[in-house]
Amino acid sequence: MTSLEVLFTPAEFSRLPQRDLSETCCVVFDVLRATTTMVTALGNGAEAILPVEEISDALTARERRPGVLLAGERDGVRIGPDLAQGIAFDLGNSPREFTAQVVRGRTIVMTTTNGTRALRSCLPARQTLAASFLNLGATAEAIRRSGPARLLVVCSGTLEQAAYEDVLGAGALCALVWAQYQGGLIADSAHMAHELFLLARDDLPSALARSRNARRLLARRELADDVSFCVQRDVEPLVAALGKDGLVKRMGLG
Ligand code: MLT
Repeated sequence: MTSLEVLFTPAEFSRLPQRDLSETCCVVFDVLRATTTMVTALGNGAEAILPVEEISDALTARERRPGVLLAGERDGVRIGPDLAQGIAFDLGNSPREFTAQVVRGRTIVMTTTNGTRALRSCLPARQTLAASFLNLGATAEAIRRSGPARLLVVCSGTLEQAAYEDVLGAGALCALVWAQYQGGLIADSAHMAHELFLLARDDLPSALARSRNARRLLARRELADDVSFCVQRDVEPLVAALGKDGLVKRMGLG
């Protein structure tokens, strides 16, 4: 029996280690902005992204591999030396910073408030994909081709709350794979995300702009353009997969 379910909050994804995910494909959304940023980085030629939870984990990873770039945010802004034992991070979490010139061929160690935490909680899953509106179609196509029995769409949220933009991303993916899961168990959470997306789909930029995260970004002149960047659909035809080694890499469509 197939199943389709959406998790809305960090409280739900933090319990994933207690679930049997051996037959599950997790798809993680952090539309504003961690998974959008990862997809952009891979699209611009980054080798891999290592998502980690804590700033100290990122610093340890760089000690081991001095060639990596350090990226991430706290309160939406790039992690500064005050938070990182005097070390300035190379990048924040704005996808517009992750240009080909900066990231091509590089491995990026990234820590963000929610997105990197959500991804790591899915490590026990059979497969985990990092999704955004930028690579929505390619992600749905990969799911159509591989046909996982259980699809679990994980919204990263904002701090400990649900995030509207992630639910819209989850709903957009549900819309694309609905027919594949219709004969099985569709959780109410998937119906909710799907229906919210259908209500908003004719004007996604306005819907997204109402979210708490978007309002926070729009209030900062240097980050405001991230919101329209992150709502672009299908501009990165790539699938981003989290490997058992903890690295997010571009996956061939095969
Ligand atoms: C997160 O991981 O919580 C977000 O991506 C936050 C942000 O981009 O500001």
